[in-house]
Amino acid sequence: MCGIVGYIGARQAVEVIMDGLSRLEYRGYDSAGVAVNDGREIVIEKKKGRLQLLEEELKVKPLCGCMGIGHTRWATHGEPSDANSHPHSDETCSLAVVHNGIIENYLEIKSELKKNGVVFKSETDTEVVSHLIDFYYSGDLLDAVYKTLERVRGAYALGVIHKDRPDVLIAARKDSPLVIGVGEGENFIASDIPALLKYTKNVYLLEDGDVAVLTRDTIEVYDLQRKKVSKELTEITWDLESATKGGYPHFMIKEIYEQPHGIKETITRRLDENGLVRFDDIKLTREDLAEIESIYIVACGTAYHAGMVGRKAIEKIARIKVETDISSEFRYDTPFIDEKTLVILVSQSGETLDTLAALREAKKRGARTLAITNVMGSSIAREAEHVIYTWAGPEISVASTKAYTTQITCLFMLALDMAFKKDVLDLESYRTLLEKLKEVPEKIEAVIENEPQVRQIADKLVNVEHGFFIGRGMDYCIALEGSLKMKEISYVHTEAFAAGELKHGTIALIEPGTPVIALATQQNLFEKSISNIKEVKARGAYVIGITVEGNTLIEQVADDVLYVPRVDDLFAGLVGVVYLQLLAYHVSAMKGLDVDKPRNLAKSVTVE
Ligand code: G6P
Repeated sequence: MCGIVGYIGARQAVEVIMDGLSRLEYRGYDSAGVAVNDGREIVIEKKKGRLQLLEEELKVKPLCGCMGIGHTRWATHGEPSDANSHPHSDETCSLAVVHNGIIENYLEIKSELKKNGVVFKSETDTEVVSHLIDFYYSGDLLDAVYKTLERVRGAYALGVIHKDRPDVLIAARKDSPLVIGVGEGENFIASDIPALLKYTKNVYLLEDGDVAVLTRDTIEVYDLQRKKVSKELTEITWDLESATKGGYPHFMIKEIYEQPHGIKETITRRLDENGLVRFDDIKLTREDLAEIESIYIVACGTAYHAGMVGRKAIEKIARIKVETDISSEFRYDTPFIDEKTLVILVSQSGETLDTLAALREAKKRGARTLAITNVMGSSIAREAEHVIYTWAGPEISVASTKAYTTQITCLFMLALDMAFKKDVLDLESYRTLLEKLKEVPEKIEAVIENEPQVRQIADKLVNVEHGFFIGRGMDYCIALEGSLKMKEISYVHTEAFAAGELKHGTIALIEPGTPVIALATQQNLFEKSISNIKEVKARGAYVIGITVEGNTLIEQVADDVLYVPRVDDLFAGLVGVVYLQLLAYHVSAMKGLDVDKPRNLAKSVTVE
């Protein structure tokens, strides 16, 4: 969601900025723009649509200058249009501003500025920032930015340049991600690390309230009280290669294929000398756990679906009561949380604003907090009391796959660790379950090998408009994720139902040929699942059954069957979901859709 790149150095700023923005495309956007200081004035070029359109425009009207800022916008306030695209400016175009986040009190500020005769060119909240900076500017840009920050409420990552200061780029952050790339004789700002990797691996991770002043050779960071703060340099250990497609047609399929490796890493790097789970990054002792009476798992989107699986895992294995909630609901509900509650926040990016707000709310109420996230140094990782990193590597495709399966893996490991520490699992059963979890990567490999069959089934779904996913127990959690994948990247309207629930209304929608993807991986629920499949089959549904090898009975009721290798019930969903990812991927690719950057979606949602 909204990408920012800024540059100051000796290169042509536009080249660096456009390259950086292209690496942030995965965040989701609908327009893009750049501004440079060409030594005399601020020149801005911006366009609705893909970066390529802006690129073509820049060929006709090149912008020259060695410092500038750029932005990819994901519309919140005002439709996607040239005028609403960033950078925004003041009336005389003396400065340019790029912004990620939402200025909540912008209407109030806007009407004040209008009374003073300011004319607005866009419908955005951001434009008040550029006019305010101009309003406060009297020769000291940093002072004007500070005065502006004192006026605005909400979330922001900002990049600011001014025509009078071709030597200075100012950045600020609160609740929206922003990093500084440290080069030699050049410096950078960006919303995310992939935008910088071509130029540097040394970064400063800005904290909320940080304001940074960059020149070619210096970086100074101040807090909101204008006091200088010292920052620790972080060296990024992964390279640009891990953030590129590496021969695959799309990031999503590459990331699906990376899952066996990612899950294996997630497990094996966390085993101690006795082969038991050891989380270095969390310190929940036996005594701590004895005090915890209930757990909340809070997240959004796919991470929420991982949380649902985590709930089943913790309840079944560790016998602790777990609630799951969607972050945006949790914050405004009245959850029963206190110091005896553990709140687990699951977030690939570690920046989802609703999840971050839920974390803060939980802390305010005295709860213990644990983040499961993929991004080191992200806001959620930094603010939670404990962190488990998923180590999936950078996930670029908007539709989450490897982050999701590694989140589930971490939750299973957490469940095992908790169960053992709470003495509800003996050592032998612990080891047995852990061994079965360790088999998951090779079982997923077998699923991936069956991709040609998935492609054949996808071919039958290319023209459908509606469909259903059904499953019981753990399969229901997986069905929800399969349905979300199909909606988000293939634009097929699907819904997921607990298989036993479909007949309480929605079965009315089943017509001859309606696709129903039926998960039946749970042995103890297999016969009941077959009955549910029969119910839809009797109404003419086209049934794709997913079950474990050996359950051949399903062939009598399903039109197509995808088999998962034999695996413990607990982990069958984690393996089976890969079929659903592949199915959504192939339907999307066959329809010629933008698999990695589906319409209207953003990878990292930094607004409420
Ligand atoms: C967006 C993405 C989803 C993701 C969700 C939560 O909606 O498009 O793929 O699951 O945010 O993101 P998080 O980074 O918190 O896991």
